[in-house]
Amino acid sequence: MNITDKITELKEQKNALILAHYYQRPEVQEIADYVGDSYYLSKVAKDSPNKMIIFCGVKFMAESAKILSPNKTVLLPASDAGCPMADMASSEPLAALKKQHPDAAVVCYINSTAEVKAECDVCVTSSNALSIIRKLPNKKIIFLPDKNLGEFIAKQIPEKEFILWNGFCITHKKVTPDSIKELKAIKKDALVLTHPECESAVRDLSDFIGSTGEIISYAKKSKASDFIIVTEQGVLHQLKKENPDKNFYVPGNTMTCINMKKTCLEDIYECLKYESNSIELDEELRLKALTSLENMHKYVG
Ligand code: 13P
Ligand code: SF4
Repeated sequence: MNITDKITELKEQKNALILAHYYQRPEVQEIADYVGDSYYLSKVAKDSPNKMIIFCGVKFMAESAKILSPNKTVLLPASDAGCPMADMASSEPLAALKKQHPDAAVVCYINSTAEVKAECDVCVTSSNALSIIRKLPNKKIIFLPDKNLGEFIAKQIPEKEFILWNGFCITHKKVTPDSIKELKAIKKDALVLTHPECESAVRDLSDFIGSTGEIISYAKKSKASDFIIVTEQGVLHQLKKENPDKNFYVPGNTMTCINMKKTCLEDIYECLKYESNSIELDEELRLKALTSLENMHKYVG
């Protein structure tokens, strides 16, 4: 039996659900029951009846699933798959910032630790940050940890005042405006589709800015046939699969998230077999972090 068949057999025996983010390796995306962006996967994990979830992504994703579903077993196949951006924010300096701005709503990107979520009013992803922040009654917003997503949202809601944390994604920071311009000089008709975690000089060169899921649906609906994709290269798998007649180009060859690529089929098999790498959270912390995630799901409806 090959590894794929072994995973499928065990998954059925244990009635487990395999979720994979769009940045995962192609073979991991192929074995998953659902593939999606951060918001979609959070919703599937929360709403699914399965008691065991194998979350092929990074720690904050599996942790968010556990916060929302404490009675489910949530396993992270690559136990050391973290998100450096999530680790750029911590609860102590956040508590100090909150004291300075007691009237501000505290909004955290889902790419944050449970400790940070516990200090926040509402959690957002790149697909819903704009609509959720627009709905908040507060004029002042503390947004963390991604300053790039924060800037992108702040520009579209000029009536609110934003206090931005100084975090960033090391993967999206690697792409340069020149690498996009060079590609655009060759592929003149290509549309530039960019993730908001990129810096403003890169966002300014874009035709569309959105989450991984939004980039994929934009390319699918578009009448254009050529696209320059400015996010982690894992999205190319679904883009090519869903659009075999369209062309996708990447600026440079730098946009690989090493943490997202840590999960291999062998890890999924081991994790399913031994039920290892289970996410466990202190109950007091989980309850504190729960509010911000529940609020996100309530706002999106
Ligand atoms: P989305 O899937 O929500 O676009 O997020 C991208 C990301 O960087 C996840 O770590
Ligand atoms: Fe974190 Fe960036 Fe990797 Fe997403 S792509 S998991 S934000 S380091």
